[in-house]
Amino acid sequence: MFESMYGSTAAIAEAVASGLADVRVATTVCEVGLAAAPRFHDRPALLVVGAPTHQRGLPSARTREMAREDATTVSPGEGVREWLDELVGRVEGQHVAVFDTSVSSRFAGSAASAISKRLTRAGGRLVVPPESFFVGGRTSGLLPDELERARSWGHSLALFATAGSV
Ligand SMILES: Cc1cc2nc3c(=O)[nH]c(=O)nc-3n(C[C@H](O)[C@H](O)[C@H](O)COP(=O)(O)O)c2cc1C
Repeated sequence: MFESMYGSTAAIAEAVASGLADVRVATTVCEVGLAAAPRFHDRPALLVVGAPTHQRGLPSARTREMAREDATTVSPGEGVREWLDELVGRVEGQHVAVFDTSVSSRFAGSAASAISKRLTRAGGRLVVPPESFFVGGRTSGLLPDELERARSWGHSLALFATAGSV
């Protein structure tokens, strides 16, 4: 499940799903606005959540507006922040993995670490540490090899996902 403004996080989500598919794990990739309200009567074995890093953390309504000044964005509505707000008490024991896209700098911050805090507070169980995939700048897309790295990361998640969704 992903949020993406310019397409990089969406591309990473697809690459992670390919990595899982390589080892025959069925996945569903879903843009956050299209993700069903989190009821989880039909929980995935592994829930993978990703978002772009904005202002060192999760995108907000304000930063999404700023992104929309540059381009028509992939995610047209609310984002992972709002989706997570509804999760409290609904993901107790759910296996989760989280990622973000960000620039490669020690001042970049991380949406993934914000997602991980919220998911674990809501009862989720992180199966691997939060992962970041790097872009060249705000709108300049992924650095070389990041799609391949995302595919490998997806592959490594297979252990925790005998059936499930990205
Ligand atoms: C308003 C705004 C704030 C941003 N702030 C940060 C930041 O604090 N740290 C960072 O690493 N990248 C920052 N970025 C760059 C985003 O990480 C980059 O646009 C994103 O990874 C691209 O993913 P997407 O194509 O899925 O939107 C920011 C981008 C925008 C639009």
